Amino acid sequence: MNNAAVNHIPVLSETLAKQISLPPDGVMVDATIGQGGHSLLFGQTLGPEGAIIGFDIEENAIRRAHFTLKNLVCKVIILHCNFSEISEQLHKQGIEKVNFILADLGICSAHLTDVKMGLSFQVDMPLDMRIDKRLKTTAADIVNETDEKSLADLIYRFGQDRASRRIARFIVQHRRSRPITTTGRLSQIVCEALGQHGEKRKGRIHPATRTFQALRIAVNNELENLEKLLASVPGLLKRQGHIAVISFHSLEDRIVKNNFKQNEKEGIYRIITKKPIVPTRQEIEKNRRARSAKLRIAQRQ
Ligand SMILES: C[S@@+](CC[C@H](N)C(=O)[O-])C[C@H]1O[C@@H](n2cnc3c(N)ncnc32)[C@H](O)[C@@H]1O
Repeated sequence: MNNAAVNHIPVLSETLAKQISLPPDGVMVDATIGQGGHSLLFGQTLGPEGAIIGFDIEENAIRRAHFTLKNLVCKVIILHCNFSEISEQLHKQGIEKVNFILADLGICSAHLTDVKMGLSFQVDMPLDMRIDKRLKTTAADIVNETDEKSLADLIYRFGQDRASRRIARFIVQHRRSRPITTTGRLSQIVCEALGQHGEKRKGRIHPATRTFQALRIAVNNELENLEKLLASVPGLLKRQGHIAVISFHSLEDRIVKNNFKQNEKEGIYRIITKKPIVPTRQEIEKNRRARSAKLRIAQRQ
């Protein structure tokens, strides 16, 4: 086991720890256990009667989380499962209600540099993007097999790129000569479509950022999974229990915001964060991944 697991800094951890405290026999579900950073933070406050139930769809993350949490005195169960199946999986474990559900969405920094993930537009790798390798469709399948209009719609809907039609047209033109199978080639094609050469657009993001985000969301059914998770949460939280979600782009954040608002209207939740909590400048300096994070918390009534 390398030190990455131990060195990982969980996003907004201090804020979370201030907002949420668990009883020693509390049960926490970490829906995205990753390297186990958040679970370690809360797990250290639990006694032998307490439990952490972790979910992750990526095998290496599960291995790292086991390593991070090995000294906790509470019970630790880590499931290689999608959080969209949270209700069924907890039921299988004989768990009915829990004190806290946390979802720190997206990917770990380690995934970006992992060649097997195929997520990076800065390092050339096979164009895969499946975080869960049990999924069948890769980003290359979508890029090479989707018709131009549907591809443009996908880039617009999940990447919010206004140049989606032009990008889709360039992709379709280029794949005629040979299939697009690497992140580097796709990145080059997007840059060409936008008349840019890999430099940051409007001084902010790489030109391929939005197209890559769109494909990752589509390959991993990210928004659908989040909707399913949020729909299950009210049935799983004890009264006064908390749900906290850390999201990294506006599509996710909007889903969380609307879900919390609707549940508050129905008297099911009390929203704790009227506005999403964002990291401090110091936290962003220490941890670049935190820069676009937004945390929302609600309490079950
Ligand atoms: C940002 S990382 C979580 C980091 C973690 N909070 C920590 O402190 O180490 C997100 C993790 O969620 C996992 N993940 C993404 N989508 C998932 C899903 N639908 N179900 C379960 N895990 C998922 C990813 O594989 C990744 O390991």
